[in-house]
Amino acid sequence: MTIMDRMQTLLGDRAPGHSLPQALYADPAVLDFDIQAIFNRHWLQAGLEIEIPKAGDYITMTVGQSPIVILRNEQGGISAFFNSCRHRGAQICTEERGHANRLVCPYHQWTYDLHGQLLRAGRMQESFDPKDYRLRPARIECVAGVIFVCLSEAAPDFAPIRAGIEPLLGPHDLRNGKLAYTATLVERANWKLVMENARECYHCRARHLQLMHSFRDFSTQDIYQEPEPWLIDFWARCAARGLKNGPVRGKDFEAGRFALADGVVSITIDGKSAVTKKLGAVGDGDVGTMWWAVQPNCFNHAVGDYTFLFQAMPTGPQETVVTAKWIVNKDAVEGVDYDLARLIEVWNSTNNEDRWLAENNQRGINSIAYVPGPYSEITEARVLRFVDWYCDASRAFIAEQRGQQPVHAFARARAAP
Ligand code: FES
Ligand SMILES: [Fe+2]
Repeated sequence: MTIMDRMQTLLGDRAPGHSLPQALYADPAVLDFDIQAIFNRHWLQAGLEIEIPKAGDYITMTVGQSPIVILRNEQGGISAFFNSCRHRGAQICTEERGHANRLVCPYHQWTYDLHGQLLRAGRMQESFDPKDYRLRPARIECVAGVIFVCLSEAAPDFAPIRAGIEPLLGPHDLRNGKLAYTATLVERANWKLVMENARECYHCRARHLQLMHSFRDFSTQDIYQEPEPWLIDFWARCAARGLKNGPVRGKDFEAGRFALADGVVSITIDGKSAVTKKLGAVGDGDVGTMWWAVQPNCFNHAVGDYTFLFQAMPTGPQETVVTAKWIVNKDAVEGVDYDLARLIEVWNSTNNEDRWLAENNQRGINSIAYVPGPYSEITEARVLRFVDWYCDASRAFIAEQRGQQPVHAFARARAAP
């Protein structure tokens, strides 16, 4: 049975509203499929414009087996390229981040400019034309200072994602921020378990004691379905400051703003700001949290004094690397305007708690006793949207490979007797 046939069977076996069959969380062949169908095809949050402020600055990432480099050119533009040399394929930029006016392959020193054009290739034959050997570009989009890349030329339309997120995130002014801290976690769990965990707060009250100092306990309700007076009042206060609230939702993303707990202005251990110099048009910082999530790999929170990014990347069938980033005002000085340990404390603890939960989830799923269970319609609607998105994107990929029309989860549910 080919992986396409197997995936079709596994996706067909999934009961609507339920978690996925075991193999979809555990099987090496499924991860290969996920890389092809999801990570090589969809928009991935990759980092921040402020990480590459000057021409020649670059950051790298690896999607599946494909190294990617994202860099700024002399004109100030930002590009993404496949980080594989056009000679014999060696990886060109090998560091996580760096600076180079020219990209020089470490193998035979083929040299590329910041637009991916091959400038020099020593001792090649007369018939060789460097113009034929540009670095292969990846798609790239920047939204309010956040960089997204897509490895596929047939990238999904980015316009709805931009239209949804930019008005909410723009006033947080990430282009005038600085990266205060990066944390990397290796989680021994399938990437879908990491993202499912990140799409619900059903577990927050029991497992995130620090985070729940700041968050209202809305783990038993979907706050947007029937907004309560506290949320309506909060939205009115933010709107008076010129801030958009959402919620907005599209096929591939969600975003919105909600109020933190009473008297709380930031996601910190005591609910007070961690940074005295605020970032963006946020007044005294009492702007709740503006969160956004783009399928498949991220969730993020912008509070009044800092922004927190969470990006996940599968590195094995049961291994996921999570990168967390904290952004503060570029003029904020560590030790003067903020204490780094205080800034990162709550999300660092939360990430470690979530790592344990995802790994523990994986251990239970690996059991011969595992059968998919029902998501709560009250507290796990966002998890269900993620999982349905995954199933639909997977079916669409299979159908495309076979030249057929995809059958989506909603149509299947309606068609069921
Ligand atoms: S592989 Fe890059 S120069 Fe040879
Ligand atoms: Fe969590």
